[in-house]
Amino acid sequence: MAFLEVKDLEVYYGKACAISNVSFSIDEGKCVGIIGSNGAGKTTLLDSILGITNWRGEIIFNGNSLRKLPPREIVKRKVGYAPERGSIFPGMSVKDNLLVGAYLNRSNIDKNLANVFELFPRLEERQGQQADTLSGGERQMLALGRAFMLEPKLVMLDEPTLGLAPIVIGHISEAVKSLKKTGFTILIAEQNASFTIEHAEMIHILERGAITASGTAEELGKEEYIREAYFGT
Ligand SMILES: Nc1ncnc2c1ncn2[C@@H]1O[C@H](COP(=O)(O)OP(=O)(O)OP(=O)(O)O)[C@@H](O)[C@H]1O
Ligand SMILES: [Mg+2]
Repeated sequence: MAFLEVKDLEVYYGKACAISNVSFSIDEGKCVGIIGSNGAGKTTLLDSILGITNWRGEIIFNGNSLRKLPPREIVKRKVGYAPERGSIFPGMSVKDNLLVGAYLNRSNIDKNLANVFELFPRLEERQGQQADTLSGGERQMLALGRAFMLEPKLVMLDEPTLGLAPIVIGHISEAVKSLKKTGFTILIAEQNASFTIEHAEMIHILERGAITASGTAEELGKEEYIREAYFGT
């Protein structure tokens, strides 16, 4: 059985359908990418796995259904989430933000902190700085770092490259590579196809809440409309 299995997922906000009939899975240690444009339903999908939305269908993680579990329970099962736009706790220091990430995982805090600082030396330099004074890229690093403090079994990244300069995207990319080497299971939601293609073994195109195409980068690249709409070539 796959490590994460999403089956016939459906999410409504009132009468508006945000996710319909979405099914996909991720094997342990693999990276899956969801590529979709604004409003496609990427955040709703990741929020659902974390238990923040009211969903129908089935989500099975590490052999157990996540149905009706509160987010806290899901986080305890080691689902890490780096939310959109590097959402962090603005009034707290960088280091305290990272320690909040360790709230539901009290083991190896010093080691994990050292790992995060190794991945992102910029965060170590700025550990005492208040988080709302960080640049966009630094916030994104902090959101990722906070997720890693959980020692997650699955880590979900919501648009980790949004608004970042190529050099900063390069840092995020290096971090994702190092996570993959460590054996993390990763789910990336992105509009940035080239970043996603670099890391994900399997990609799903999400349009208006539904998966309209799935495959490896090479397979999807053969479809002209996908190349034009998402790969920009
Ligand atoms: N809390 C909410 N209440 C009502 N509608 C919502 C809510 N959150 C999202 N939506 C709607 O659901 C749809 C999917 O939104 P979602 O944020 O999941 O898309 P997204 O792919 O993450 O977009 P973006 O790339 O802009 O972040 C959109 O039409 C959005 O307006
Ligand atoms: Mg979003």
